[in-house]
Amino acid sequence: MILCHCAIVTDRQVTNAMDDGQVGLGAICRATGAGSGCGQCVPSVRSVMRRYALARAAVLAESAVTSLAQFATSQAALEGDSHAAA
Ligand code: FES
Repeated sequence: MILCHCAIVTDRQVTNAMDDGQVGLGAICRATGAGSGCGQCVPSVRSVMRRYALARAAVLAESAVTSLAQFATSQAALEGDSHAAA
């Protein structure tokens, strides 16, 4: 979907810029060209950035929960082993 009609920048280009490590509205606009004309696309760029950040946070949170569950399982197994050995 085209976000910036002045520079013809899509939402995918914005998320690609974020994937490439661009952080912040200014950096993303410089990387993509969005916002370089009339500026009407800036709220849309911000919205894409917000959705991307929320999606990334959800993935990281899910990964953290999985890691904690694996840790708890391994701890329980270790405790079970130590009880069995005693
Ligand atoms: S629509 Fe993006 S600068 Fe005009």
